Formats: sequence, C-alpha cells, structure tokens
Amino acid sequence: MNTVTASPIIVAVDKHDLSSALALADSLDPSLCRLKVGKELFTACGPSVVQALHDRGFDVFLDLKFHDIPNTTAQAVLAAADMGVWMVNVHAMIGSDAMSLCKSRLVNGGYDTLLIAVTVLTSMTQEVLQSLGVLSPLDEQVLRLAKLSQISGLDGVVCSAQEAVALKSSLGTDFKLVTPGIRLANDDNNDQKRICTPSEALKNGSDFLVIGRSITTASHPTDKLKLILADL
Ligand code: C5P
Repeated sequence: MNTVTASPIIVAVDKHDLSSALALADSLDPSLCRLKVGKELFTACGPSVVQALHDRGFDVFLDLKFHDIPNTTAQAVLAAADMGVWMVNVHAMIGSDAMSLCKSRLVNGGYDTLLIAVTVLTSMTQEVLQSLGVLSPLDEQVLRLAKLSQISGLDGVVCSAQEAVALKSSLGTDFKLVTPGIRLANDDNNDQKRICTPSEALKNGSDFLVIGRSITTASHPTDKLKLILADL
C-alpha cells in the first residue's frame, strides 16, 4: 500500500473511461492529493484503472460503498484490499455484524487497507430520510451510524463536514472523518446538499476532503487543487 502524501485532499476521478481518468491523473501530483475511484469509473474500467493509478504513485480510495449480506460484503472488501488500495468503504446500513466481519477478514489477512463506512450520503436531506422511513433527525442518524461503525472496529466514516464537529467530539481524534460535499464559495453545488468549504471542513475536524467537480471540471485542475491547498 502506498502512503505518499500528507495532503488531506482526495480527488474524485468521476470519469467514464480510462483515457479521461488517466488524463486527469496525469494533470495531478501524487504528492498533493490522493485519488478516489468510484462506481462510474470502476464499472467502466475495472481493476486496471486502479493499477494504472498505483503505477503513477497515487494512493487510491476505492469508493464502491459495498452494501450486501455479510459474507459477500467482506469478500468484496478483501478483493479491494488485494488490489492494494489505501482505503475502501461499505454502507454502515449493512449493520454491525457485517462491518465487524469485513474488518476481521482484513485484520486476519494482514491487510492495512483502511475500512470506512458511509453514514448518510451528503446528497440526502431530512425529507429524503423521512421518505425512506428513517424518522430520527439526520444528525442523530449520522451519529448513530458512526458510533455503530466505530464499535464494529472500522477506521472511520464518510459524512458531511457539517457533522464533523459533533462526530469528532463524540468519537475521538483517531476515528477518521472523510467528507465529500466540498465546495468553494463560487462553485456550483450540483446534487450535493450538506456542503462546506475546504477550510470550514478542516476546521470542523474532517481528516480527508473528497473533492470532485470543483477540481475535475476546472480548466486547470492542478491550479484549482493548489488554490484549495493554499487556503487550508
Ligand atoms: O463532484 P463532487 O465533489 O460532488 O463529488 C463527490 C464525490 O464523493 C462523488 O464521487 C460521490 O460519489 C462521493 N460521495 C459523496 N457522498 C458520500 C460518499 C461519497 O458525494 N456520502
């Protein structure tokens, strides 16, 4: 596993084909960011894209948000770890037994891949949760799922940076908070709802900031990344 940078930025390589993904990667510097491979790119390209990003020196967060029965999820996590990724994730809604199984298979296999859980997607609102039958306030649901992830032995959670202050104070500094929904003041929010600026997110206690379209749609992605880093 690579650990090549102290930068808190993870750039979401939400591209549809290998050449666009590698063009973006080649415009970025592995000492300034990690890269996130999500469902779009992985479904289009498979493990070869992860290998190609590793070959370029990047740490890769494989963001496939596994959500299935315990054995299937744990074996998928192991398959991700076999690729040498730095971080992989599941949905906390798989429950504690399934999350514990994923973690114990990683530990028993001697992998140091970080395993984190998605709490409530940053594109979701209170109304969306209610429509799904989740009646607790959104921040309580995030805290509940984060505590469950911690009890299950995971290394951290994905949440909104708006929730980071409460989670850090409740779960401690070692439990990693990975926060998408990051936007600069002048950026388009797109489909994200619970957003923060990069500096707010770090101030709130985020450990890693996942940034996609703010960087990937910029005419000069590296310049935008450097601008964000300079502001932190
Ligand atoms: O373009 P944008 O900055 O909104 O990209 C955010 C990235 O983080 C996307 O790849 C999205 O799938 C991912 N993500 C998210 N919310 C989560 C987990 C992951 O937006 N809770």
